[in-house]
Amino acid sequence: MAKKSSYNVAVVGATGAVGQKVMEILEDRKFPVAELRPLSSKRSAGKKLTFNNEEVTVQEATTDSFSNIDIAFFSAGGAITEQLSKAAVESGAVVIDNTSAFRMDKDVPLVVPEVNPEALESHKGIIANPNCSTIQMVAALNPIKEAFGLSRIVVSTYQAVSGAGWAANEELKNQTQQYLNEEEMVAEILPAGSDKKNYPIAFNALPQIDVFTENGYTAEEMKMINETKKIMSNPDLSVAATCVRLPVINSHAESIYIEVDNDDVSVKDIQDAIKGGKGVVLQDDPSTQTYPTPLSAADKYDVFVGRIREDLDNKKGFHLWVVTDNLVKGAALNTVQIAETLLEKDLK
Ligand SMILES: NC(=O)c1ccc[n+]([C@@H]2O[C@H](COP(=O)([O-])OP(=O)(O)OC[C@H]3O[C@@H](n4cnc5c(N)ncnc54)[C@H](OP(=O)(O)O)[C@@H]3O)[C@@H](O)[C@H]2O)c1
Repeated sequence: MAKKSSYNVAVVGATGAVGQKVMEILEDRKFPVAELRPLSSKRSAGKKLTFNNEEVTVQEATTDSFSNIDIAFFSAGGAITEQLSKAAVESGAVVIDNTSAFRMDKDVPLVVPEVNPEALESHKGIIANPNCSTIQMVAALNPIKEAFGLSRIVVSTYQAVSGAGWAANEELKNQTQQYLNEEEMVAEILPAGSDKKNYPIAFNALPQIDVFTENGYTAEEMKMINETKKIMSNPDLSVAATCVRLPVINSHAESIYIEVDNDDVSVKDIQDAIKGGKGVVLQDDPSTQTYPTPLSAADKYDVFVGRIREDLDNKKGFHLWVVTDNLVKGAALNTVQIAETLLEKDLK
């Protein structure tokens, strides 16, 4: 990608939950866009969207969609990334992919700009954006790891339905109405569209996000485990995850237990590390009931951390509560920050 004053940008999945946020954030952060090309399936081709106060028309994404494109943001599912990303790279675009298609490929950097921006230097045309629940966890834990070392993570998530796309939001709203009308709740999408059974999410909690893998963990849990080790460049880091879907529209919350390397660390030390971290904000004061929630974090750019406590049995152990908007820092903002970092570092 040659250095220019502005860039031609394609958004594959522009009509989806993540694609819409990508366009909103490009606009909000005044990313230097010359042409914005919104792409989707045949279903939405022809639809009009607005970008920087101008109408743009959605086109069907094909292998011919990327001529003169400098940066292509992909969020249309892993299969579309697999089908079209090679054509985009061959046309000269850098692909920043929100799906899980290439995240664990050793030739593809998996990047959270506050944590491992240096990984971008070795990119070969495709850069992967981590899973939403991984991004907020590594962003919150990195300042602690830098200050005190980190050997163990045990995380339980409380994830919003928007993490499963627009259709899951609609399913929660419809089921809520059905429940209040004393009708049977219709479940067709969650916990995983491709699995055998569906369960209602309204007034419920589902301990399954994505499908089960052979070891009994779900694919979402294994993403958190494997991606965290890759981003933190530490295959020996001990990570365990339990991922749960809640009837919340936006923002994932996580209860995280960590063990640091030093045994003389206090809660104040952990709070100070968070205060000094990039993109993380401390909201932690039990005396004023100050802590982040999904509603307070919605539409914000930061990752919020509260409820920091010492473990009562392990001097190296701490508990934290971490919340961020899954569509913003958990997806679209992180991809836009990757693009901004490419420009700042003058990387092709
Ligand atoms: N939601 C999150 O928090 C989140 C976070 C990180 C990553 N992701 C990942 O991002 C991807 C999209 O998620 P989402 O939540 O935005 O889903 P979504 O709201 O369901 O949107 C899906 C988008 O993909 C497009 N699409 C579907 N089939 C296509 C095809 N054959 N060719 C071209 N475009 C096609 C859709 O276009 P139409 O309008 O034509 O159907 C729509 O724009 C998924 O892989 C997801 O895992 C999501």
